Amino acid sequence: MEARRSVPDGTRRESAVVVEHLTKRFGDRVAFNDVSFEVGYGEVFGFLGPNGAGKTTTVRTLGTLIAPSAGSATVAGIRLLEENGSAIRSRISLMPESPGLYLRLTVTENLQCFAGLYELDDVPGRIGRALRAVNLENRAGDLCGSLSKGLRQRVALARALLNDPTVLFLDEPTSGLDPVATREVHDLIASLREQGVTIFLTTHRLEEAERLCDRVAILNTTLRMIGRPEELRAQLFRRSLDVRLQVPLGNPEAVFGSVSDVEVWEQTPSGYILTVTDPDRAAPVLARALVGAGADIISLGESHHSLEDVYLELIDEDVEARSR
Ligand SMILES: Nc1ncnc2c1ncn2[C@@H]1O[C@H](COP(=O)(O)OP(=O)(O)O)[C@@H](O)[C@H]1O
Ligand SMILES: [Mg+2]
Repeated sequence: MEARRSVPDGTRRESAVVVEHLTKRFGDRVAFNDVSFEVGYGEVFGFLGPNGAGKTTTVRTLGTLIAPSAGSATVAGIRLLEENGSAIRSRISLMPESPGLYLRLTVTENLQCFAGLYELDDVPGRIGRALRAVNLENRAGDLCGSLSKGLRQRVALARALLNDPTVLFLDEPTSGLDPVATREVHDLIASLREQGVTIFLTTHRLEEAERLCDRVAILNTTLRMIGRPEELRAQLFRRSLDVRLQVPLGNPEAVFGSVSDVEVWEQTPSGYILTVTDPDRAAPVLARALVGAGADIISLGESHHSLEDVYLELIDEDVEARSR
């Protein structure tokens, strides 16, 4: 028992999704390669990557729609094997990028249709709960064809909720939605999370991943990085301090060289950027050194990088690597 308890940091024994060295090829084309990660129960897990990165193929593989070429996985506690397909499908839902609703049927009729396909019990009760969850009760009798794209997306989400999934795969759920509809879908995801649903969300939208996700994996055929959004930033970027002064320093090297935490400094049009080992330790020492050198400080603070910086940096590296 003791040995089992000593799992590495960050490893959850109770994982909603475990993926180990998973690969999917279509003939010669590799959709994703040697991908490994875990998603904990109750987590909102972001799967971020540019077009063609392999996100949809990963979701389709984990959703048992296509078989992997190599590697293994566990989904909702069940091994991803052909014979377990229907057991896995009963515990998960997959909302594809295009909702694929019957536009000539009403919202309720669409949901009835899919509840029938899934052979669910208590269809009226399930439909009622799903419509309440996505705030669509008052549109139950509307034809899907008469609904806006945002509302159709909500119907698709209601459909995905019919079987009370433990793990919900959402493939680019806000793609093509306007900002208001996007915000509504974000709010719905947040409320599903409150209810303890594990959410696997693919997106190419950085701010979406940053806003909604507990952890984010960046995929570009291979998994490039994984962690909490702030960890990704810290991993990729050295930390730095931005300094703005009333007047540039006469001898910057003398000042910055006296602060042991400063590794490198460079002058910018408005001041200086200093790469430091620990901004919290460096900032007060630096402030004293600057004041001691007679400088008038306008501002001194840590520079913050958005996840977008991290993402673009990674994708750029890949593009450069490919063009070599
Ligand atoms: N059924 C398929 N047959 C052949 N190639 C495919 C198929 N599905 C996806 N691919 C290829 O796999 C790669 C990843 O695609 P996809 O998973 O759709 O990426 P994403 O969802 O990240 O945009 C792409 O190069 C795509 O052309
Ligand atoms: Mg896709």
